[in-house]
Amino acid sequence: MSKPMRGRHFIDTQEWSDREIELLIETSADLKRKFHRDEPHALLRDRTLFMLFFEQSTRTRNSFEAGMTQLGGHAHDLTPEKLQVSHGETAKDTALVLSRYGHGIAIRNCDWGKGNTFIRDVAAISRVPVINMQCDRYHPCQAVADLMTVREKFGADLRGRRIAVTWTYAPNYVRPLSVPQSEILIMTRAGLDVVLAHPPEFRLEPEILAQAAANAARMGTRFEVVDDMDAAFTGASVVYPKSWGCLVHEPRREAAVKTIEKYPGWICDERRMRLARPEAIYMHPLPASRGLEVADAVIDGPQSAVWDQAENRLHTAKGLMALTM
Ligand code: CP
Repeated sequence: MSKPMRGRHFIDTQEWSDREIELLIETSADLKRKFHRDEPHALLRDRTLFMLFFEQSTRTRNSFEAGMTQLGGHAHDLTPEKLQVSHGETAKDTALVLSRYGHGIAIRNCDWGKGNTFIRDVAAISRVPVINMQCDRYHPCQAVADLMTVREKFGADLRGRRIAVTWTYAPNYVRPLSVPQSEILIMTRAGLDVVLAHPPEFRLEPEILAQAAANAARMGTRFEVVDDMDAAFTGASVVYPKSWGCLVHEPRREAAVKTIEKYPGWICDERRMRLARPEAIYMHPLPASRGLEVADAVIDGPQSAVWDQAENRLHTAKGLMALTM
């Protein structure tokens, strides 16, 4: 039997059962219908969410803040500079205080080797649910919105379809591993075959790869890792090309950028889209580096699902808060 949803932390999708992920997507779809019909859905009247951002955000910040307003509550937009965290107050002390003032704490901390630990330290002593708004290892909110989007395009039965999660070139900054890691974790549970493609230095954490393989084995689907973007795209129904850093291989920023610069050919362009199935969709969590990761003709073209993905961040943020808070 599932644990009660109220009060549950959401740090990694692997910690929620298939049924709980299903309930989250169903709740989000219901809230999406209500939003579009302008029907009242103030499920969290007078409730407060504290959002703590260690890094910048457009979609996550605004989907949670707007979502909380639409649910009848209020979200505080916090950064370390606005808190005594900047003077060394610990995660534990901060969480003890915030969890006495409100009903949920949401954190983004992508510091490699530290972000997930920080969120788990807060969750360990918080009286209220803690939501991972992206850390160094996981972006579970993005993953759930993406699964909802794939289902909207192809239906709930995804067996026989394949998603290609591939690395792309973008030397402008070294991105965390959290999106590809959460994508391979959730998509291997969704009935899709999953192929992960990247140059050799851009491997993901071995523990995550093992979990994705175990998910696929449980579902009777395929999970494979290749080093060829064309091979990954060929025959795929969903392509998910995005950049990430070589943090497992080389966490030092300057060396990491030099490694990224070795692979400028890893772009999603019209030629590669033609390798995928005719009905294939192009996905990206955004922000995308246009001209580096993806050609304008693809991200602005008829196969692009990126705006639906971005919209579903709102509905899934609301579903998550409504269930846990
Ligand atoms: N996809 C995503 O998390 O976007 P932001 O970094 O803008 O929140």
